Amino acid sequence: MDSDDVGALADVASHYAAPNLLGRLLDGLAASGVDVERIAVEDLRLVDELHVRGREATEEQASLAHIGAEERVLDIGCGIGGSARYLAATRGCRVEGLDLTPEYVEAAIGLSERCGLGDRVTFQVGDATRLPFEDGSFDVVWTQHVNMNIADKRVWVGEIARVLKLGGRWAGYEILGNDSDIRFPVPWATSPPHSVLASAGQLRTLILETGLEIDAWIDSTEAGVAWVEKVLERFRESGAPPLGPRLLVGDSFGPKFENMRDGLRSGALAVAMFVARKP
Ligand SMILES: C[S@@+](CC[C@H](N)C(=O)[O-])C[C@H]1O[C@@H](n2cnc3c(N)ncnc32)[C@H](O)[C@@H]1O
Repeated sequence: MDSDDVGALADVASHYAAPNLLGRLLDGLAASGVDVERIAVEDLRLVDELHVRGREATEEQASLAHIGAEERVLDIGCGIGGSARYLAATRGCRVEGLDLTPEYVEAAIGLSERCGLGDRVTFQVGDATRLPFEDGSFDVVWTQHVNMNIADKRVWVGEIARVLKLGGRWAGYEILGNDSDIRFPVPWATSPPHSVLASAGQLRTLILETGLEIDAWIDSTEAGVAWVEKVLERFRESGAPPLGPRLLVGDSFGPKFENMRDGLRSGALAVAMFVARKP
């Protein structure tokens, strides 16, 4: 890896970096009346899924991919571990999460231990384009809203295919589009160099060229617009709740979500959920 690659990864991690994140999440939980030593996965649902349509989308994705109890799942770009905990708690599977941002991984570990899931979900800091796993390790690779920060998508998709077992599935839920048609900041990037969007056609082609087969592809842009509008409306009416996306996204939450909504509305951005299989 050359120094430009290292710098680009550090820039992405510093975009998401949130000082004392675990402490602030625990404070937010306590302010909402939760016993922070005995957290239920449900207590976190409004703050720990950093993607359009939150838990609703995660439930759909888990069903689309038919994730079972005996499966070993890798969540690439796992954020603070919301989906990993949800999958382990509801499907009974074992989930390993990997993310570039150290504060997110620290929060993922601290929250999962307090949810009593420390033995079924594990997390580590790492880069999606250099996965620290043997070939053919996982039944399922899970990604949600991570490709927008990854410049070398060919290497990324190649790594996903490499670590999947034969017959294994990639369950993806990704934002797609064209950087030149959107306004910044957006939730995943403050300025263009850190947003590296691919169109749906480009990602589909890459998946097929990598040797995976596409079992399902659902465009959920319309439902995404409705969800972002609802979040913004709640924010305008009642301000930021003690536990909500603003805790992670920061003060620029409003413009970031408005720009994302406008991009989804105009067609410059799209949201797709898919399952690709390693034959
Ligand atoms: C929008 S957040 C989504 C988090 C999580 N998937 C979710 O939906 O709750 C994007 C995440 O991707 C991570 N990320 C970005 N580039 C990455 C890379 N090259 N390797 C690993 N993680 C990465 C970021 O640190 C961040 O946590």
